[in-house]
Order: sequence, then structure tokens, then C-alpha cells
Amino acid sequence: LQDTQLGKKPREGFSSSVGVIAATLGSAVGLGNIWKFPYVTGQNGGAAFILIYLIAALLISAPIMLSELMIGRKTHANAVGAFKTLAKHEPWFLVGVSGVISSFLIMAFYSCVAGWVFSYVFKAVAGTIESTSPQQTFAVFQTLVNGVGEPLFWQLFVLAFTGTIIMAGVSKGIERVTKALMPILFVLLLIVDIRSLTLPGASQGLKFLFQPDFSKISISVILAALGLAFFKLSVGMGTMTTYGSYMGENENLPKTVLTVMLSDTLVSIMAGIAIFPAVYAFGFKPDAGPSLLFITIPTVFSSMPFGRFFMILFFILVAVAATGAILSLLEVPVAYIVEEYKISRRMATLGTIMAIALVGSTATLSTTLLSQMHIFGKNFFDLYDFVTSNILLPLGGIFFAIFVGWRWGFEDMFEVFSNHGRLKNEGLARIYFILVKFFAPVAIALVLLTGLGFIQF
Ligand code: PHE
Repeated sequence: LQDTQLGKKPREGFSSSVGVIAATLGSAVGLGNIWKFPYVTGQNGGAAFILIYLIAALLISAPIMLSELMIGRKTHANAVGAFKTLAKHEPWFLVGVSGVISSFLIMAFYSCVAGWVFSYVFKAVAGTIESTSPQQTFAVFQTLVNGVGEPLFWQLFVLAFTGTIIMAGVSKGIERVTKALMPILFVLLLIVDIRSLTLPGASQGLKFLFQPDFSKISISVILAALGLAFFKLSVGMGTMTTYGSYMGENENLPKTVLTVMLSDTLVSIMAGIAIFPAVYAFGFKPDAGPSLLFITIPTVFSSMPFGRFFMILFFILVAVAATGAILSLLEVPVAYIVEEYKISRRMATLGTIMAIALVGSTATLSTTLLSQMHIFGKNFFDLYDFVTSNILLPLGGIFFAIFVGWRWGFEDMFEVFSNHGRLKNEGLARIYFILVKFFAPVAIALVLLTGLGFIQF
């Protein structure tokens, strides 16, 4: 209202609670659920890993997600602007700056993998990945990732596609698209699940997913679970601050977080049900690693009746998931540029996707033209993944938690938590506050330092 009186356009936001859930869940659900979650679960022993992941998500990622949403909604500003509003003339805004940098680095490799996925939709339709021989599907994947023009084309395609949606705006772009896509994703996943569960021998895959073997739990398994819980729920880099800034005063934020976290976990487990029974049914190993999605899965689908049909559905669903996540990644720098530099949304988006195309091409070409270039012993793709998941997101997470717990304080926080006292949720707020004030920073710091080799177990 004030903005209108000053003659400025009112700030855009999500128009409904359903839209809030769709957009936020759209950010959480992504390649993390269908590409990372199954292969990390596969490599770390299945059900026991999932259990640890759930604990990490509930006690660490979810409280930080809530912190971000509250900081965003309180200030109705982008990730940098939010801190500038809440802590004027203090260096806290650097947490937002780190978020903007993280979003660029994540998008650099994320848009590359999303490009592979989009190309696989077309390959599935054309039948080029239909083969029951893993050597054959391996060869197709190798040709794609070791190419130059093809992967770059698909990466640009993804950026242009998602950039167009971002240009349409917050409610007309992000909210409208995720509201349409999320149910489609769920239905497609359900169809593929039913197919997978009705394969002979499916029970072995289910055992792998649901029967925990606690002897598999080690410090490295716990580390992997924590890292994934960050990436999965899109926290530690201002995505949720930015989305929170588009939420209205009546949204129940703690409830939104729980809904999104539980639904996101459900999608991950459903992705596991789609993949592991089928993998076992056709005699593959569950720990194939990152290539599980691009080599094992096409072979598995090709070996079953109506395989091509389900393969097309499957890769469409992965593409849908990636789209919602990229929208939220793009929105972080776009909102920042629009608000802090007063540049139009269209120009800000265009500039952002051009910059990502540039940085992203170094990830895409990291195994070919740039394969000689290594930083800290890693190629560009692995470097961006490592620096964000293992350093920037946990670090950002610590600071979001510390900001709420030690700088903002309980009273001011509770104003936002309880929608100015309208929600009677003080007990929950107390638990949350202890988690962000003490538990989360300490736990994350331990993980961070162990991951970087400063602490050894
Ligand atoms: N949560 C997304 C996924 O699981 C990835 C993501 C990370 C999106 C950080 C936004 C910010 O794929």
C-alpha cells in the first residue's frame, strides 16, 4: 500500500497458499530427489542412510529453511536486501551475497545435468537410448557428455526455457508454472512406481530401501546425509529467503516448512521406489553412482514391457522436477539485481542467464575441452558441486541459524513465527529456537570441518 502511495508499483508476491506450497516444493524437488538421492542412497547402504537423512532434514535443514522464510517474509526483500533491512550497517548482508554467488555456481552444473535430462526426453522419444545392453546406453551417455555442441545446446535450451518463465514474473511465472507442474510430477511418479512395483523380483529393491542395516552407518554416511539434506531443501543460500519475501502475512510458515519437507521426502522415496526394484529386477547393482539415472535406468526400462513409454514419462518427470528447482535458483540473483540496482526484470533475467551460460559452459566442457584444467584437483563441474554443497551452503546455513538465534532474538523472531501472535505455537517456537541457536550451528560446523579434513574421525 505504501509503495502505491509513493507511486511505485507494489511488490509482486505469491497469490495463494497453494501457490506458496507449489513454488516452495517446486524448489526443493529437483535433480536432488531423482538423480542425487537414489545414487547417494545406493552408495551409502540404503535404508539406514535414509533414516539418518530424515533426522538431518528434520533437525537441521528444516529449521534453517524456516529461518530463511521468516527473514524473507519479515523484510519482503531479496536475499541481500533482507539482511540490509534487518541489520543495517552490519556485515550480515554478506550472507546474502554468498547466496547469490552460490546460486550461480549451483546453476552452472545444475543446468548442465538438466540439459542432459532434457536431451534424454528427446532421446527416449526417438528411441536412441532404448537398449538392453548397458554398453550401448553407456556409449550414448559418453557421446553426449564428451560432446561440445550437443550438451551446450541443451544447457542453453534449459536456461532459455526457465528464463522465459522467470521473466513472466513471480505469480504469473513461477507460481503458475509450478502449480501446474507439481501435480503432473506426482502422477507420473506414481505411474512409474506402480510399474516398478509390479515387476517380478521387486521385493529385493524394496528391502534395500526400507530395511535398515545399522552396521552401514559411519561418519562418512552421516556427512553425506547432512550435505544432501542442505542441497535437497534448497537451504543455506537465500532461495528460501527470496521465496519467503513473496509470502503473505497469513501464511503459516512452520506448517509450510513441514509440508514441504515431508512432501519432498515422499518424492525422494517414491523416486527410490521407481528405481531400485527395477534395478534389482534386472540384475543391476544399486550403487552405480551418478550414472544410475543416465545409464542404468534406460537399460532397465528397455528391458520391461512398454519400456519406451515409461522411459519417456520418466525423463519428462525428471525434467519437470529440474525446472521448478532452477526457477528458484534463478530468482535469487534476479530479485537481487532488480531490487538493488533498479534494473527491469526482463534485463536482469537476460543478464543472469547469459552469465550462467558462460560459467555453466565451463562445467559442461569440464570433461572435454577443459579437461586439462583442474583447481584443487577437481575439474570445473566437480569444483562447483563441491564448493557449494560442502562449503557455501553449510556455511550459509550456520549464519542463517546464528542470525536468528543470536542477532534477531526470540521475541522478534516469534512475532514472525506466530503471525503476530495469531498462531498459538509458542511451544514449537521454543523447540525451533533451541535448534537454531545451539544444535544446528554446532552440528553443521562439525560436518563442515570434517568434510574439509580439519577434524578426523
Ligand atoms: N533442492 C534442489 C534439488 O533437490 C536443488 C536446489 C539447491 C535448488 C539449492 C535451489 C537451491 O534438486
